[in-house]
This record gives sequence, C-alpha cells and structure tokens, in this order.
Amino acid sequence: MNKMTGKTDFQSCVFGDKMLAEFADCYPEQPKILDHALVSHDLLTLDALAKLGTALPSSSVEYNPGDLPVGIAPEDVPDNGMSIADTILMIENSSSWAVLKNIEQLPEYEVLLLSLLEEVRPVLESKTGKMLQPQGFVFVSSPNAVTPYHFDPEHNILLQLRGEKRMTVFPAGDERFAPATLHETYHTGGPRNLIWKDAFFMNGQEHHLTPGKAIFVPVMAPHFVKNGAQPSISLSITWRSDWSFAEADAHAFNAWLRARGMEPKAPGRFPARNRGKAMAWRVLRKLQGLSG
Ligand SMILES: [Fe+2]
Repeated sequence: MNKMTGKTDFQSCVFGDKMLAEFADCYPEQPKILDHALVSHDLLTLDALAKLGTALPSSSVEYNPGDLPVGIAPEDVPDNGMSIADTILMIENSSSWAVLKNIEQLPEYEVLLLSLLEEVRPVLESKTGKMLQPQGFVFVSSPNAVTPYHFDPEHNILLQLRGEKRMTVFPAGDERFAPATLHETYHTGGPRNLIWKDAFFMNGQEHHLTPGKAIFVPVMAPHFVKNGAQPSISLSITWRSDWSFAEADAHAFNAWLRARGMEPKAPGRFPARNRGKAMAWRVLRKLQGLSG
C-alpha cells in the first residue's frame, strides 16, 4: 500500500524492468511503444476528469471540435460551444478534443504523476541529467478526433487508458518536417502547430495505441494523432532536462542571430549539448530583461 495515495502500489511497476530496458535503449531520441499496467485509476474516469477540468484554471484547459483537418492553423480552430465538464462527460457524442494541462496543480494528481515518473527517473537521469519540471496532461477525445500536426518541448510518455488512437511521428531535428525557423519561432513565444504537407506522410512512423500501450515521444518530434472509433483517454507524463532547455535556448539564440541577417547552424540533437549558444541566449535574455 502506498502511504501517500492509500492505494495499492501498482503505479510503482507500471512499466516493469523489461520496458525500462527498452526505454533506456531509445531515450531520448527514438520514439518507442511500451507496455504499461495503468489500466484504470479513480482519478482518470470521465467523472473524475470532468471535475478536474472544472477545478483547473481556464488557462489550463483547452478544448475544441475534434473533427479538424491535420494541417489546420491554430487561429482557425473553432469553439465547440460547451463547458469542459459537459465536453468530457459527453465525449462519446460531443465530437470534441480536450486537454487538461498541468494536472499536477491538484495535489492528488501531482502524487499520481510523480509516482509514475519515479519509475523512469533513474533511466532518464542517466542520460539527460536531473528530471526537471514534471508535468502531466490528460487528453480526452471523441471518436475520430484529430490532433493537428505539431511538436512539444517536453520529453513525453503518453499512456493510452481507454479507446485507441494512431500517432504518426516524424524524426526530431529533421528540417524537412519542422524547419529551423519554426523551432526558433516556437522558442521565442510562437505556436506549437506546424505547417503540414501531404508529401510528409510517407516519412512518418505510425504507432497504434490501445489501452495498456504507451509511446515515448522525443522532444520536438513532429506528430499528429487520429483517434479511433471509440472515445479515448490518454495520460501524458512529461519532464524537461538540462539537455532540452539548452536545445530550446540555442534555437532562441539562433532566432536572434537570424533577425540580424545571419544564417545560423541548427542546434545539434542529443548527445550534442548546445551549451555555447544556450549560454549566449541566457546572457542576452538577462541583458534584455534588465534593459526592458
Ligand atoms: Fe503532442
């Protein structure tokens, strides 16, 4: 029994030794399907998630119609006209997509998130250093909902809990699928949605997620998601690292260079550390903050 949650300690073996060994082989650059044992949890039912969506600040809740094209621009995404609680409770028929962000803002969800991350922490810390900024996201989506083409700044393991979805992932750090200029825009405050071209499709790796399956998604690896014919619930457990912060800051520094007419070399992917450019951006940011 876990003293913090009062529940049986299944969270501490959600992945198990075999999966942790496979995760160690692919982390931090290769997408990988893993098995997980988080089949159900009281905090992850539709009723509990409707309450969570209502309790979170509105800035942490995003939802919209789910029948979107893969390449839609963020400013073109319409409202679904419902409350977050109704959207979740009626997810089977609401034709919607919802994400509850930073679920760790509620103590019971923080305990759940940290207990899950604790299992993978030794593996990831051996490669990318201390696990930083643990964050949890829950995705609730209607049959056939689409998450448009985008990238994310976190190291991410997405656990499928209910329903099925197909995530198509493209190589991180490959300019064909996310040009350096879009990384630079993102790391200086721009949107995470990317520009989709149908010609990309043949280069994507499609991964099938069903309950009991998870996928590790590398930092900034472009992807889009298509839900199956049933409502879906997925839990994303994410973290940052010194490595990911340095890569992000190196892109931001490149944006500064590009704005001054230069054509900077893209930051290296792991195991390149990008320390020089990251340091330069941190100094610049401080100077700009002081002068502003
Ligand atoms: Fe994503």
